[in-house]
Amino acid sequence: MSIQKPVKRIAAPDIAARKGGEPIVSLTAYHAHTARILDPHVDFLLVGDSLGMVMHGFESTVPVPLDLMIMHGAAVVRGSSQSLVVVDMPFGSYEESPNLAFRNAARVMKETGCGAVKLEGGSRMGETVHYLTERGIPVMAHIGLTPQSVHVMGGFKTQGRERAEWAAIEEDARVIAEAGAFSVVLEGMAELLAARITRSCPIPTIGIGASVECDGQILVLEDMLGLSPRVPKFVKEFAQIGDAIEGAVRSYADDVRARRFPASEHTYAMKDDKSAATKKTKMTGS
Ligand code: KIV
Repeated sequence: MSIQKPVKRIAAPDIAARKGGEPIVSLTAYHAHTARILDPHVDFLLVGDSLGMVMHGFESTVPVPLDLMIMHGAAVVRGSSQSLVVVDMPFGSYEESPNLAFRNAARVMKETGCGAVKLEGGSRMGETVHYLTERGIPVMAHIGLTPQSVHVMGGFKTQGRERAEWAAIEEDARVIAEAGAFSVVLEGMAELLAARITRSCPIPTIGIGASVECDGQILVLEDMLGLSPRVPKFVKEFAQIGDAIEGAVRSYADDVRARRFPASEHTYAMKDDKSAATKKTKMTGS
């Protein structure tokens, strides 16, 4: 009899230790089933607040409530066993004060079982990042294009394409690293700036639209699968699942309308119907 050793989950310090090494691989996951598929292939799964737009049809991530993040976060933890699960703190759940951030981040950790939280903001979040990490909550930061600030930025705008913007963003990276973040997402950022930050910052940078210069990469799963109606320039569609779903649904609708589905192999016969019993090899019930 072989006894399988339980797989040890990747933890925040394992990600921090990967600075400058083999690229860190990550994707978003919002539910248990996809988490199970992605788990063996990634270092961390992000339960991103992008789920508000991708799954729930909001125009931005701003309306996403904390309870929704907790529900999806717990599902992703249940569906995975080896990758670190990071859950996004949604807009309004952490910015007001380090105390509020701690209370809500502690809820996220307790109720989902995740290994870390992510929050948006650089210098302005330094005190909060320090407060959380000092109290046992690993924090991934997120700078550059921060979607929760879409109304202040006036849209989803790439950052750092003018050199005049660089100093503030570099300072963001310095402050959150010094405050104790174990890694930082760089979103929507000019390659030259991402490269400078990756070189100077002691924690791993995880790029999304921030070039190959980063220590790791993340994409929104639905974007890279070809399930999103529009994707930004930085997304590579590794599959066309949207087309596959549409084809399957069309075949299903045709079969139902032509009474080809369900066929006899998808149908439960009476127990004493001998002719049906011999056909049931593919069935899970009888
Ligand atoms: O919410 C999200 O999916 C994210 C990624 C884009 C990094 O924050």
